Amino acid sequence: QQIIAIVPAAGIGSRMGATLPKQYLALNEQTILGHTLDCLLSHPSIEKVVVALSPVDDYFAELPQAVHPKLEAVIGGKERADSVLAGLQIADAGAWVLVHDAARPCLTHADIDKLIASSSAFPQGAILAAPVRDTMKRTNAEGVITATVCREQLWHALTPQFFPVHSLKKNLTDALAAGALITDEASAMEWAGIMPAVVSGRADNIKVTHPDDLQLASLFLKSHI
Ligand code: C5P
Repeated sequence: QQIIAIVPAAGIGSRMGATLPKQYLALNEQTILGHTLDCLLSHPSIEKVVVALSPVDDYFAELPQAVHPKLEAVIGGKERADSVLAGLQIADAGAWVLVHDAARPCLTHADIDKLIASSSAFPQGAILAAPVRDTMKRTNAEGVITATVCREQLWHALTPQFFPVHSLKKNLTDALAAGALITDEASAMEWAGIMPAVVSGRADNIKVTHPDDLQLASLFLKSHI
């Protein structure tokens, strides 16, 4: 089984309010994207890591990872799904792909292993996810609670998300053409009626979205050593 990774990194991270795109912010003597790529590039089962970059990216070439022999860069697209599709264009149809957010630098090899191992039980694909811990509320438009949502069987969808290349490529293409709301790879599969499984992963595999998340990610990375 050939396994590749695709890292959509073409976003501008406007929610961070920084001048740099968030994947290039400093984190423990590196960049966020540098940590993310190191984890994937050093995994022995991953043959190739494809990173999708903005057409106006000024920073990637400066990273030490840019010249790694396992790394290939492509130009991403307008939305995250377009960036993933750009990466899929250079993937073998018979391979499996791990799609992983550039902004999740705290991923571990143990979680990658767990996800890869799930493919024998779940040939349709699977995603890393973390069970919801808090009580969940639904509100109306005024912010008043209308219901408590049962948290059993509710999960935070994380990445990587692991699928056969041919299947993800077809379903992402079709779902985008149909105008479906696609916020992760699993949602494109679900749109096509293919239901991926969840594999319970570490809750510290956070997506750095807001400035406070950087401090958390820094602590998590130090705790992994
Ligand atoms: O904005 P958000 O945090 O949801 O982005 C998730 C990931 O998708 C980030 O790693 C971002 O760089 C990437 N992305 C992309 N192409 C876009 C938009 C976002 O590769 N057009």
